[in-house]
Amino acid sequence: MLKIGVILGSTREGRVSPQVGEWVLKNGESNDELALELVDIKAYDLPFLGTADAPGIAQWQAKIAELDGFIFVTGEYNHSIPASLKNALDLAKAEWANKPAGIVSYGSLGGARATEHLRGIVSELQMADVRSHTAMSMFTDFEKWSVFKPAEMHLANLTTMFEQVARWGRALKTIR
Ligand SMILES: Cc1cc2nc3c(=O)[nH]c(=O)nc-3n(C[C@H](O)[C@H](O)[C@H](O)COP(=O)(O)O)c2cc1C
Repeated sequence: MLKIGVILGSTREGRVSPQVGEWVLKNGESNDELALELVDIKAYDLPFLGTADAPGIAQWQAKIAELDGFIFVTGEYNHSIPASLKNALDLAKAEWANKPAGIVSYGSLGGARATEHLRGIVSELQMADVRSHTAMSMFTDFEKWSVFKPAEMHLANLTTMFEQVARWGRALKTIR
C-alpha cells in the first residue's frame, strides 16, 4: 500500500477544507493500492518560514518524509493557494521530492487558478502532479458557501486521480 497524505491547505476559522478532505478520504477507501490519511497543516502549528524554530517544523518534515504521495485540498485565495499551504510547502524540501501529487480544489471557478499555481510550485519541489483534478464550485457544490454537497460528477475525476496517483506512486517509489 502507498501511504498518501490528504493535505488540508487552509487553516482559517470556518474553513471548509476538513469537509472536502473527509470526502476524499471516504471515496479513496475503495482504491486498494492507497492508504489515505488526513494531514492537517493547522494541527502542526507551523510558524511562518524563518520567524521561529518551533518543534512543529521537524514534526511536519517527518510526516511529509514518511508519506509516498499527496493529495492537496485547496481553496482559492486571491487567485492562488492559501498562504498557509505555501508556507507548509516551503518548510520542507527533499521530503516532497519524487512523489506524486493530486489536487482537489474549490472556489468560484473551481479553484482553477489556485490549482495552476500549485502545479508550478509542486513541480519545483520535484513532485509529479497528475493530470486528473477535481474542481468544485463554491456556488453549486456548497450550500451557502459553507456546507459541502458535491455533485455526483466529481467522483469520476476523483477516482481517476486516485488511479493516477497510485500508478505514479508505484513508479516513483522505485527511484527514491
Ligand atoms: C483571503 C481570501 C481570498 C479569496 N479569494 C478568492 C479568489 O480569488 N477566488 C475564489 O474563487 N475564491 C476566493 N475566496 C473564496 C474561497 O475560495 C472560499 O472562501 C473557500 O471556502 C476558501 O477555502 P477554505 O474554506 O478552506 O478556507 C477567497 C477567500 C479568502 C478567505
